[in-house]
Amino acid sequence: MNNALVLTGAGGNVGAYLAHNLSEKGIKLVLVVHNDTHRIDDLEYCKNIRIIKTDLTDLADLERKLNKTFEETGWIPSKLIHTATARNHNVQSMVDTDPELWTSIIHMNVIGTYNILRCLIPYFRKNKNGKIVLFGSNVSRIGLPKGSAYSASKAAIANICRTLASEEAHYNIIINTVSPGPIKIDDSQYSESYRKFREEYYNEKLREIPLKRCASFSDISGVCDFLLSDENSYITGEEFFITGGKI
Ligand SMILES: NC(=O)c1ccc[n+]([C@@H]2O[C@H](COP(=O)([O-])OP(=O)(O)OC[C@H]3O[C@@H](n4cnc5c(N)ncnc54)[C@H](OP(=O)(O)O)[C@@H]3O)[C@@H](O)[C@H]2O)c1
Repeated sequence: MNNALVLTGAGGNVGAYLAHNLSEKGIKLVLVVHNDTHRIDDLEYCKNIRIIKTDLTDLADLERKLNKTFEETGWIPSKLIHTATARNHNVQSMVDTDPELWTSIIHMNVIGTYNILRCLIPYFRKNKNGKIVLFGSNVSRIGLPKGSAYSASKAAIANICRTLASEEAHYNIIINTVSPGPIKIDDSQYSESYRKFREEYYNEKLREIPLKRCASFSDISGVCDFLLSDENSYITGEEFFITGGKI
């Protein structure tokens, strides 16, 4: 089988975990990275893996590099996991946030999502075979004080998912959104103020989570595996909240 899975944000916390997990299953992978690749450097020379470095906001570059990869390998993209995201590292209320920063987060998270879908859906349509998982966040339903651009963009992603589920169903394309609550990640690369914000946010949220822990990477990957599997032929357009029981 020449089918391949495209994974964005593959250099990130969740993305790198998924990349290793999927690679162990022998799945052909196209890993889309931005700048930081340290978590997946060990995968660089794997036979079933190709790595594309690009900025998801640059549609022309993304399209060119994806098309070139599929031409060279003969692989046919049939699945997408889109984890890439920009965040509100500034930790400010909406009206205090610099307009350019606010726009840049919306741009990356919404237009970046549009761009990856714009590149891959034509392949999925052609083969009448496509399964997609977009990463949202539970902030799409509860909001995020001092993270309004991120929060708004995650709601937009869940909404794009619902629209595409209808538009693309007759091409046998299935699309869902996975929206986790806090995930236990390595946040050492973030600024001190943003780490402090996350720690306080997580401690507060932990008190509200009935299962009393953050989601683990394997909690997340288990849901993705199912949504992308042959067992899922009927669930589409949904947003799955992985929040340990917190509504
Ligand atoms: N971690 C959590 O607690 C949590 C909770 C709820 C939802 N989520 C969602 O789960 C997903 C994964 O989260 P995570 O913690 O793994 O995030 P992460 O570690 O911050 O990874 C995000 C990835 O997106 C990439 N990226 C950022 N801007 C990009 C651009 N312009 N073009 C291409 N790639 C770009 C980053 O690359 P560079 O670093 O090289 O820029 C990074 O590899 C995200 O969608 C997030 O919103 C996470």
